Amino acid sequence: MSKQRVLTGITTTGTPHLGNYVGAIRPSIEASRDETLDSFFFLADYHALIKCHDPAVVRQSTKEIAATWLALGLDTDKALFYRQSDIPEIPELTWVLNCNAAKGLMNRAHAYKAAVQANEEAGEDPDYAVTMGLFSYPVLMAADILMFNAQQIPVGRDQIQHVEMARDIAARFNHNFAELFTLPEAVVDDSVAVLQGLDGRKMSKSYNNTIPLFLPEKQLRKHINKIKTNLLEPGEPKDPDSSTVFQIWAAFADASETARMRQAFENGIAWGEAKKQLFELINARLVEARDCYNRLMNDPAHIESELQKGAERARQYSAPLMRRIRDAVGISPIV
Ligand code: TRP
Repeated sequence: MSKQRVLTGITTTGTPHLGNYVGAIRPSIEASRDETLDSFFFLADYHALIKCHDPAVVRQSTKEIAATWLALGLDTDKALFYRQSDIPEIPELTWVLNCNAAKGLMNRAHAYKAAVQANEEAGEDPDYAVTMGLFSYPVLMAADILMFNAQQIPVGRDQIQHVEMARDIAARFNHNFAELFTLPEAVVDDSVAVLQGLDGRKMSKSYNNTIPLFLPEKQLRKHINKIKTNLLEPGEPKDPDSSTVFQIWAAFADASETARMRQAFENGIAWGEAKKQLFELINARLVEARDCYNRLMNDPAHIESELQKGAERARQYSAPLMRRIRDAVGISPIV
């Protein structure tokens, strides 16, 4: 049986944080070691342009995210690791799909609808600050997926709708022109933790409550000390299940270390002590990868060559398929 193809994209608009690591990067790198799967991971820098109009941020984020995946041990001889913008067939396919995707389908996309709703609530024109990029974002994402005929798309819940749209767009193309596309499916793994941030809400760049993954030690300690706790004194029993400190602990510790910390909470461990132990645990888990990350950040040529290698491999899939797609819609040499 041929291998299942797994594909996912990472939008290059921020610095990777503990929530990204636990929720996406770590499970993806683990999956890439599974011999029954073929993994495609890419830096979605064209997607970044939708939300971010600061070139320095997009550039820096692209570098940081690439260095992060490499430092954490992604094997780029096995997994395909590339930058979206290095694959010219992706924007080319986006246009072809734009000419086939129903506008009515895009009207229903959550990200676009949320922007319109926010405008309406603010008494603005409904289209205020809505770009064509935002509106047609699901078409670009469909091209990312369909370009490589990926079957499984690991995503967060907020992205399920986009994968379903990719499926609709693929089915419509297959029906109208030629059976060229595999119908993709979203894969949502409920066993991976959605980490809480410093304020107890979901850790997210948009809430400004993150702990960046590769902070220098001192800063990592400082951030951990900022995690919100309650006012219970040392010696008073604490509820592990409502504690961000415990939740992050459990995402990094093994089962026996987690059981030990649960007991310590019940025994009334002081918040300061729990945070100190959390710092030590995370630091020990990340120290090696952090050194590697810092070396890579100082060697951008190496990062770039990894991405070029990935692009070259990825184009071995995208270029021939794009030729068939063009041909199917009537774009081909006259003779
Ligand atoms: N839109 C996704 C996000 O914001 C990132 C992404 C872009 C993606 N293209 C993709 C994810 C293709 C899966 C497949 O998280």
